[in-house]
Amino acid sequence: MIESATPAAPAAHSPAGAGAPRPQRALQLSVIIPTFNERGNVAVLFRRLQTTLAGIAWEVVFVDDNSPDGTWQAVRELAAGDGRVRCLRRIGRRGLSGACIEGILASSAPVVAVMDADLQHDETQLPRMLKLIEDGAAELVVGSRYVEGGSAHGLADKRRVGFSVAATMMAKKLLGVAIADPMSGFFMIRRDCFEDLAPSLSIQGFKILLDIVATGHGRLRTVEVPFKFGARQHGESKLDSMVAMDFFGLVLAKLTRDLVSLRFLLFALVGGFGLIVHMLTLDLLLVAGVASFATAQTVAALVAMTSNFLLNNALTYRDQRLKAFALLRGLLVFYIVCAVGLLANVGVAFSIYDQEQNWWLAGVSGALMGVVWNYAVSSLFVWRRR
Ligand code: GDD
Ligand code: MN
Repeated sequence: MIESATPAAPAAHSPAGAGAPRPQRALQLSVIIPTFNERGNVAVLFRRLQTTLAGIAWEVVFVDDNSPDGTWQAVRELAAGDGRVRCLRRIGRRGLSGACIEGILASSAPVVAVMDADLQHDETQLPRMLKLIEDGAAELVVGSRYVEGGSAHGLADKRRVGFSVAATMMAKKLLGVAIADPMSGFFMIRRDCFEDLAPSLSIQGFKILLDIVATGHGRLRTVEVPFKFGARQHGESKLDSMVAMDFFGLVLAKLTRDLVSLRFLLFALVGGFGLIVHMLTLDLLLVAGVASFATAQTVAALVAMTSNFLLNNALTYRDQRLKAFALLRGLLVFYIVCAVGLLANVGVAFSIYDQEQNWWLAGVSGALMGVVWNYAVSSLFVWRRR
């Protein structure tokens, strides 16, 4: 339980006597704001926070993924003028959920809020949300577009509205999530509750609230407050069509209790697609009569490995995409990994066939061995975390 804050409380008596720095009021709220190319928005949002959070002891942490537009520089300027502002500049990484998690863990108030930088979230709700938590009425407060008084008018287009509604329905049905707007990016949570769940949260994707709610298995006392999702003023949305994939991955991970990760699933899908590429290339070369079977099979394998590599780089590992020289190096290492994976695949298949005389069991086991090997080793040596 959080102790009720007393905003106007005098500073505690300092045992060090005169000359010691006056202890500051204990922090009440950390606001975490993930940013990517939001240069035009951060100063405006900071001023709005100053106004709306007057009388509350707060800090704000902007988590910027090295935005090309230099958002982090704008944040540093704010921070130089006001100690309540901090900038976490992450290099070589992308991802909304991961940014929020890092920002929360880098902050210190007993209550944390997460909101977008682009002024689409209504910061004037923050004091009310904080009060609900400090009074003990809630452990999690969600800024909700889908309860009485809220609205989602700011969603860019019909496609986004459709996706948001469908995803919300799916999350409720499949994951047993009870709140009206689990897709919201605007919420406040008690730090101790968050830190308990943090080790089980996914840093991939963008649905951190859904992850928190699903991982909490309905144990978090939750209140939703309505807000009107505004239209974006500057810059553009970073959520591309890949967010649907991220969403399904999160649902899958939560359904299988984190046994199957999105990355592994994507990797396996790409592998399956590679098989089709392989067979098509082989067929093409044989029909055209330009190569012997052995040559055609080798070329087909190289084409499939190359397309698998590029697809994995674009989809499975798009948050750590390799470029330029690193791309070339990665491709070469990927060839080696896959070659060894093929040996493992054939080895396992042979030994099972030897004992069971069951061709499909042998085939499936070999393929599974191959994909698990390729996945595990390429995540160590090809797309390794920098
Ligand atoms: N650090 C970091 N890294 N920040 C990011 C990244 C990233 O890779 N991608 C996006 N952001 C920041 C943006 O700068 C913005 O402040 C916030 O995250 C939300 O991104 P938007 O690009 O504005 O997303 P949106 O408006 O399309 O989606 C919003 O609405 C959805 C509901 O429809 C977000 O609030 C979502 O969380 C929410 O689910
Ligand atoms: Mn937005």
